[in-house]
Amino acid sequence: MDTPPSADRLIEEDRRVLWHPYAAANSALPLFAVARATGCRLLLADGRELIDGMASWWAAIHGYNHPRLNAAATRQLANMSHVMFGGLTHEPAVRLAMLLTELTGQDRVFFCDSGSVAVEVAMKMAMQYQIARRRQQKNKFVTICGGYHGDTLHAMSVCDPDTGMHQLWRGLLPRYHFAPRPKSRFDSAWLPNDTEALEAILKARHEELCALILEPIVQGAGGMWFYHPEYLRVARDLCRRYDVLFIADEIATGFGRSGKLFACEHAGVKPDILCLGKALTGGYLTLAATLCADEIAATISMGEPGVFMHGPTFMANPLACAVALESVRMLVQSNWQSAVGGIERALAANLKRCASLPTVRDTRALGAIGVVETVAPINMASMTRRLVELGVWLRPFGHLLYTMPPYCISESELRRLCDAMFEVLQPE
Ligand SMILES: Cc1ncc(COP(=O)(O)O)c(C=O)c1O
Repeated sequence: MDTPPSADRLIEEDRRVLWHPYAAANSALPLFAVARATGCRLLLADGRELIDGMASWWAAIHGYNHPRLNAAATRQLANMSHVMFGGLTHEPAVRLAMLLTELTGQDRVFFCDSGSVAVEVAMKMAMQYQIARRRQQKNKFVTICGGYHGDTLHAMSVCDPDTGMHQLWRGLLPRYHFAPRPKSRFDSAWLPNDTEALEAILKARHEELCALILEPIVQGAGGMWFYHPEYLRVARDLCRRYDVLFIADEIATGFGRSGKLFACEHAGVKPDILCLGKALTGGYLTLAATLCADEIAATISMGEPGVFMHGPTFMANPLACAVALESVRMLVQSNWQSAVGGIERALAANLKRCASLPTVRDTRALGAIGVVETVAPINMASMTRRLVELGVWLRPFGHLLYTMPPYCISESELRRLCDAMFEVLQPE
């Protein structure tokens, strides 16, 4: 067997041949090689150990290297890792779809490879639904500022217009309608005129709108903002009134992250189309799903060409479905509400300390998500280096230092994470 390269060599070779997310090809940003990950810890190739505060971008809710998820993957590997889904089916996909419909109250599941693709599928579903109803002119979307829905072209068109690279792709991205970001905070009083701008768009444009798409309650990568459940309730009603579909992108919020199994539950609303991803497989493999009501599926099937026009090669990958099935079962069989509630209380208490610092504009915690918004933009490279020196893994960006750890994080690990956040936010 090859001897593993040293951490320095690995990083050097990486810099020569690889590209990282949102990075230049010859980026000098800090890079850390991971050799192993277990529970809530990342073991670096240079021997250092970090407490993971990111759950690999919302995904690893049970922590890394979990024996039950490992066993599910191994069992499935002994049967088959993949078969095509056109004309074939398999137990992991059927069982997972049945569990997801039961948990979400939706009727039908379309599996795909990643969150961005799940959003593309949701948008195509909404458009094809309107075509099938002979309302071809209803082919535009409305959304809210501060959103993030993925990096594929159509998903980008509903990302925040300022942070979402609309400038760069001007002329290429479809132009859709944006209401302002909800002002009413999750934990403050509802501001009754918050939905006025959304209502005005729906009223003026409903004849050309096929759907509203938004991240319910928690806007993630677009600004880590938590807004009031009443906004969702009003938006849901407005969509019904103006014959516009309601798409909830729960790719980040799904599976307990916001304190409810799905964030729409904070407002008691049911979307027409729902996108899931990230934590679906407990962060093991890439899999996402777009779910919808029977009425949408039936309408699409009755229109021309009678089929839904999407079908990825790795659709419903059996290995990913088997791990996802085990991950979702583990979650719903566990007392996750108590784990997430404990994390929320600890984050709220610990991050309050940060609020007193002159470098900090706001702190907020909801479910297993803790956010510190800074006054000045963060120097990502130097702050990341300092956090690693303090033994924690966080990835700040813009004005945001935030954490969404695996739900298995211990109280002492969480305290160390928050202490490190407090430390790096000290004024120079
Ligand atoms: C709300 C939301 N939608 C969509 C996506 C895109 O998912 P993926 O990165 O798996 O394509 C993300 C990813 O961060 C997300 O947070």
